[in-house]
Amino acid sequence: MTVLKRSLLLILCLPILWSCQEPKPKYVIGVSQCSEDIWRSWQNSEMQMEANFHQGVELRFTAAHDNSDTQIHQIDSLVSSGIDLLIVAPNQLTNVSSAIDRAFDKGIPVIVFERKTDAQKYTAFVSADNYEMGHEMGEYVVSRLHGKGTVMEILGLKGSSPADDRHRGFNDALKGSEVQVVATIQGNWTEDVAYNAVKAYRGDLSSIDLVFGHNDRSAIGARKAFVERKSEKLPLFCGIDGLPGENGGIQLVRDSLLDASYIYPTRGDYLLYLALNILEGRPYQEETMLTSALVTRDNANVLQLESDEVMRQTQRLERLNQQASGYLQQLANERVINILAVVLVILLLIMLVVIYIYFLQRARISEERNKMEREQLDFYTQVSHELRTPLTLIEGPLAQLAETNDIQNASAEASGLFSIVLRNTRHLSQLISKMLDAQVRHSSLVSIQESEPINLSQTKIPTLDTNDDIDSTHPTILIVDDNADIRAYLSNILKPHYQVNEAADGQQGLNLANEIVPDLIVSDVMMPVMNGLEFCQRVKNGTATSHIPVILLTARALDEHQVEGYESGADAYITKPFSAEVLLARINNLLKNRRRLKNLFGNKEEEKKEEKSKEVENNEEEAKFTTQESAFLLKFRDFIEKNLADSDLSVETVGAELGLSRVQLYRKVKALTGLSPVELLRTARLQKGRQILETTGKSVSEVAYEVGFTAPSYFTKCFKDEFGISPSDL
Ligand code: FRU
Repeated sequence: MTVLKRSLLLILCLPILWSCQEPKPKYVIGVSQCSEDIWRSWQNSEMQMEANFHQGVELRFTAAHDNSDTQIHQIDSLVSSGIDLLIVAPNQLTNVSSAIDRAFDKGIPVIVFERKTDAQKYTAFVSADNYEMGHEMGEYVVSRLHGKGTVMEILGLKGSSPADDRHRGFNDALKGSEVQVVATIQGNWTEDVAYNAVKAYRGDLSSIDLVFGHNDRSAIGARKAFVERKSEKLPLFCGIDGLPGENGGIQLVRDSLLDASYIYPTRGDYLLYLALNILEGRPYQEETMLTSALVTRDNANVLQLESDEVMRQTQRLERLNQQASGYLQQLANERVINILAVVLVILLLIMLVVIYIYFLQRARISEERNKMEREQLDFYTQVSHELRTPLTLIEGPLAQLAETNDIQNASAEASGLFSIVLRNTRHLSQLISKMLDAQVRHSSLVSIQESEPINLSQTKIPTLDTNDDIDSTHPTILIVDDNADIRAYLSNILKPHYQVNEAADGQQGLNLANEIVPDLIVSDVMMPVMNGLEFCQRVKNGTATSHIPVILLTARALDEHQVEGYESGADAYITKPFSAEVLLARINNLLKNRRRLKNLFGNKEEEKKEEKSKEVENNEEEAKFTTQESAFLLKFRDFIEKNLADSDLSVETVGAELGLSRVQLYRKVKALTGLSPVELLRTARLQKGRQILETTGKSVSEVAYEVGFTAPSYFTKCFKDEFGISPSDL
């Protein structure tokens, strides 16, 4: 697995791990109860409920089941589990104090509640006054028995402070009355022990007027034992605790199972409040005495109603609390979902970036590959050029030779040998063409133009009757090629039909083109000094040469090379090895198509018609050419028309006006119109003269001078030649 994959997995799992983890509590509070009973359960739930109102408080409860050794052990365990505060109800006054001291010495704040300890090391103490409670109960009993009677006292656990305090208080209150404690038995705070103790009592139970249990549970245990005796008269039963709720002391008094009880306040909420004050450094009360009250037949009903209400409210609070925890849980879940969503978005972004980088790299690689292929192709193009040129020079002349009498009349042996050479040259040419084409295709680039190997029958130099197509004698053709053999070979092909001039590179070619203004140029592309593309461009941009058709003749066979050629303004693109016939046909065609705009000073209507039909048949390139060259000719015509009357108007003056030498003007105008500038000037004068004669009453002499003739007789002669009638006839 890659590092990337591993980290992605980890990022994905993090929220799940977070969600599984319980949040670490802010405070852990240990609660060490000495026993487990209804009173302690009630108190614990009060503490828990209060804790629920504070976030991050965890309570850890233990119960020692009235055994001091167990409690010592439990306190030590709580301390070592890492509690922040200890709340302890010591089972007995002395036995548990060592554990309390140890906890305190470890820096843990200790709240001792409800039962006293002889340990001095605690932070706060909370309790009700058990002596006072016993005393008040004693006073009640005296009054209930009208100052006289017998009492059985059921004691709480020996050594636990409430048992001692309640006993002293109770007995102190009886002093001075005739109420006497006739029996004292051990109840140890539990119903069972009290029940069994009464059962085991050997004294006279029927003489007992009232039983005082140190708590309600022991009073009820004793009552059971009394009831089981089935004697007619039951004594009165009093206890302490007065708990609310089902089977609590208040209900027992209301239902007359007990005669009286005393509310022994649990106040778990207060204990927690105190604990948090200590933990959070707020001021707190070191010693709290909780106050309380008696429950008798007189107030039991009201207290029961109140306690029921308290129970209802408590239940409501619990429900609310549960709901709140539900919402909190939901919030926590939503938090996890949100984190997951954010993680997903981040992952998506990372993915996008990775994909982007991937495509970027791919593009770079493919660009590099293209570059390599282009370089490879350039190499093959170069090789192709190197091979095709000499091949052209072998095949072409051989084909020409084959047509000559020397070969045709040669001996059978000689002509046989010649055929072998010719056939194998052709074969070699085909092989090289195929090999180069295959290489180029292998480079998976643009398809190349099929360059047919030269066929002997094709290489036969065709005869061309130029007079059929062009009216001038021999048009001039400029050959530009750095290879002298190619120049010679081309010259050989073209000479029978054209006047041929040669240049060895683009620069020479440009100079010569400006000097002689040829009718057509055939140029190589790859040349030193100035290559064919630049040469062609400069020819097309020169005023004197812009009209000249250019054929690029080259071994650069690829489409993209041809596109380059056409973009430089070339009129045709022929690849090597080439067919002489095709070359001649192309030249003839181009020359034929350049013959236009003859009617420069003729009938304007006819001129327009001619232009229109040309526009339709011409392609875009042609249209561009026509516009460019027409603009030149219009400039030429306008200048002449404006200066008709000037009999001294010379071709030099007109050329200078258009930025051309005399020769350049002549060659260009002749190429474009088929007429020389002098002829055009004379035609313009005659046309104008005819127009004046037809529209005014001026004499022939007057008109002759007006249109720039120096002698009226010469005007009349020329007029007759041009229009076939005499000017005087008009
Ligand atoms: C609860 C209890 C109460 C009693 C108190 C004395 O454990 O037994 O019934 O009033 O403890 O500490």
